[in-house]
Amino acid sequence: MSADSDTSSAIKEHTMGLPGYSASTSQDSNITIDNHESSTNNKKAEILLAPLPVQESLRLSKNKLRKKRNYEKILTQRPIKRKREKELRKQKGLNKKSLGKDEKFALTEKLKAALNGTNQVVIDCQFDDKMSDKQRDRLAQQLRRVYASNKASQQPVHLTFSSLPESSEFFQLCCRKNDGFSNYVIDRKEQNVSELFSNDKIVYLSPDSTNVLSEFWPDKVYVIGGIVDESRHKNISLSFSKSIDITTARLPIDEYFVAEKGSGGTFKKVLCVNQVFDIILEWHKTKDWVKAITAGLPERAGFVAKST
Ligand SMILES: C[S@@+](CC[C@H](N)C(=O)[O-])C[C@H]1O[C@@H](n2cnc3c(N)ncnc32)[C@H](O)[C@@H]1O
Repeated sequence: MSADSDTSSAIKEHTMGLPGYSASTSQDSNITIDNHESSTNNKKAEILLAPLPVQESLRLSKNKLRKKRNYEKILTQRPIKRKREKELRKQKGLNKKSLGKDEKFALTEKLKAALNGTNQVVIDCQFDDKMSDKQRDRLAQQLRRVYASNKASQQPVHLTFSSLPESSEFFQLCCRKNDGFSNYVIDRKEQNVSELFSNDKIVYLSPDSTNVLSEFWPDKVYVIGGIVDESRHKNISLSFSKSIDITTARLPIDEYFVAEKGSGGTFKKVLCVNQVFDIILEWHKTKDWVKAITAGLPERAGFVAKST
């Protein structure tokens, strides 16, 4: 093994292989890091953050140095991020401790009522075998966020998770990853979305569609593909929809937003499941596309609303 590869594997071990830390890139947050054993690991993180000896840093390739710097940045920002997330949860009134028995009951009743109503949104879980373990983990996490948003909303939608039999591995994974998953107040269906609704009712949301959404009609069923990908599965929702002849539509991002030059944005218009869901919720609340898309588009995407 060469000195360079020795060094790079040592760095890899130090950064990604710290016991209790796991790191992954994702669509909903550029890089997420799970901290399982914070106090021990904070010490290790401090060691990690110490600058490398000059000779060692010279031996690292630019790419590895960039990765190391990014990782250090994440470690520094993590406490701020955690605090912000906690505040957001507090604002939404979702901190378990802050909810009384009556409030919890009221939230559940609201979700139950939504299940009898229109404004249907389906998360289609049929593609779980197309994803890696890491992507499946992330989808499970996104389903939790979808449910939390619906629960927090003043106007929850009729939420269905389709192609999700109790016997499936993905269902079991969701139960392991998400507290109380099997008791979520949703319609969970074993069947494929095409077996649940007539074709003329379904609008499959796809970033690759040539149709543009103008609004969410209450009598239609809007389907979000349960897919986490970084471009590997381009057109998957569009191809499926075409194969069974159902309508597709994309979000009107281009119609209401422009890429802000020089912002260093990702300019990604393929959003993750919970972001699309938040857009739908916000649209129902405000009937305003700029407000709705702003609620779901991550800031780092670098889009700004077109001036009217
Ligand atoms: C991470 S995306 C998956 C993209 C995947 N390449 C595909 O073919 O659908 C997850 C789902 O969110 C929805 N979605 C994401 N961005 C969208 C957009 N700009 N317009 C409409 N739907 C979108 C779609 O339902 C999509 O299946």
